[in-house]
Amino acid sequence: MNKLYFGDNLGFLRNREYFPNESIDLIYLDPPFNSAKDYNILFKESEGTPSTAQILAFEDTWNWDESSALALYHINDSASKAPERLVRLMNTFEAFLGHSAMFAYLVQMTVRLLELHRVLKPTGSLFLHCDPTASHFLKLVLDGVFGVKLFRNEIVWHYRRWTASSKRFQRMHDILLFYTKNDSNQINQTYILPTEGQLRKHERGWDRNTVPIGGMRRPQLIVYDQAKVDEAVRTGRLNLSEYARIVKPKSTLTTAPDVWEIDFINSQAIERLGYPTQKPLELLLRVIQSASKPGSVILDPFCGCGTTIDAVESLNRDCPDDPARQWIGIDITHLAIDLIKSRLATRFGLSSRDYEVIGEPTTLSEAYALALENRYQFQYWALGLIGARPWGEQKKKGKDRGVDGWRTFLHGKARVYKSCLVQVKSGKVNSSQIRDLKGAMEREKAEMGIFITLEPATSEMRIEAAATGIYHSEIMNRDYPRLQILTIEELLQNPEIFRIPPGGEYRAAPKFAPTPKAQENLLDREPDYT
Ligand SMILES: C[S@@+](CC[C@H](N)C(=O)[O-])C[C@H]1O[C@@H](n2cnc3c(N)ncnc32)[C@H](O)[C@@H]1O
Repeated sequence: MNKLYFGDNLGFLRNREYFPNESIDLIYLDPPFNSAKDYNILFKESEGTPSTAQILAFEDTWNWDESSALALYHINDSASKAPERLVRLMNTFEAFLGHSAMFAYLVQMTVRLLELHRVLKPTGSLFLHCDPTASHFLKLVLDGVFGVKLFRNEIVWHYRRWTASSKRFQRMHDILLFYTKNDSNQINQTYILPTEGQLRKHERGWDRNTVPIGGMRRPQLIVYDQAKVDEAVRTGRLNLSEYARIVKPKSTLTTAPDVWEIDFINSQAIERLGYPTQKPLELLLRVIQSASKPGSVILDPFCGCGTTIDAVESLNRDCPDDPARQWIGIDITHLAIDLIKSRLATRFGLSSRDYEVIGEPTTLSEAYALALENRYQFQYWALGLIGARPWGEQKKKGKDRGVDGWRTFLHGKARVYKSCLVQVKSGKVNSSQIRDLKGAMEREKAEMGIFITLEPATSEMRIEAAATGIYHSEIMNRDYPRLQILTIEELLQNPEIFRIPPGGEYRAAPKFAPTPKAQENLLDREPDYT
């Protein structure tokens, strides 16, 4: 079954029950690049509502701390079975970089890559997506983990985007380092559309190039259309005796080279979900199509908003008669997990019954443990239980007092969007917090409010909430409590317990549409040269 893990990938990868040896066919990883940037998520709402929430999705900063020191200790420990060459490399990096953020990043990547190598099948492949900030170091790390001979390609993903002028050339590419676990692995050839120049040659019916034949570079004729070539010979425009060899490609498609021209997801792209660093679906389709087959298991241990998962699901739907590929995604922030769930629901009609979610609290004691471990992740998870988003940094200062999240719903005959504000508490609770939420509802002109608490609510709190009155929805012709109190225990027992009119979903990911035939051909067809 497909699986979504919430938490640090290292912990899950080290668990051999979750990840036995040699169980994965393809790994794509797109870790934060050590760019010392913070990535904010900008939630896009259903049409017609403002996008107000901007919150930190993840920090791309790695520091030399206890956990990096522990990871280095682990690499040096013989129990890790790290190859001797890798240990020597890490010592060299330590001497060169000192205990810097870059060294911390490389050490953290190395322990994860050792586990990823362990879980990869002998026939498996790994693609590490990075940028030039660290790609030169990461390639050495991969040489150390896999062995130099198992390097296959440095793929350049080239895109165009607007960037401000600077002291250097504009940066318009990322790097994908491609390694296989053993030497005999083959990729499935993928094809790209001909360029305009190539199309003109196809139209003419032939092309020429020079190739080494018998130790010398000699002219070769490439025939696309025999009738046009015959006509050109007849009219004297082409002299076949000038060519050392004549070849006839059966297909006019071009084998994909190691430079991939794929558009960046721009701010207006319909694919865009608002998650920072979201990668284009086309990029992931190409990786998966070239290095996996029907029935393969594909892992993305830094899965963000789930582009890899989307690509696997899309391919399965494109080829319904083939054994389905399986996916496994891991992410450390619940924002990503929540967004993936919404993506799978809106694009493919999948609910959490169709895949397994591991790492989310399912009992009250696990919810307490999450609150203790990371208050923000607890808050994101609790908001996700009622489909609400984090309130985040508001444009006007001081606006977020008494509010942790919000959800929209449709109001009145005109079906305008109204807000339901949400407050989440993991500590002691009292009725003054209900008054705070009421105050925030008045201030923000919100029609409804929901108070979520880990601790049981007192009767004073329930009386205070009931005094807020009733909201009547004309659309549903139903009454709703204007301010609801929900305990985590109630939500875990009955996920449907909260009551709110419809209209609060995330901006929908575009519904899946089968890949056009022409595109399928690009991926499937074998070119033969005679
Ligand atoms: C560059 S983004 C991946 C974007 C993704 N390829 C997509 O298309 O949406 C990196 C992701 O790694 C996650 N992450 C960072 N450290 C992690 C860790 N130790 N374990 C699991 N996920 C982690 C971040 O939360 C972030 O979502």
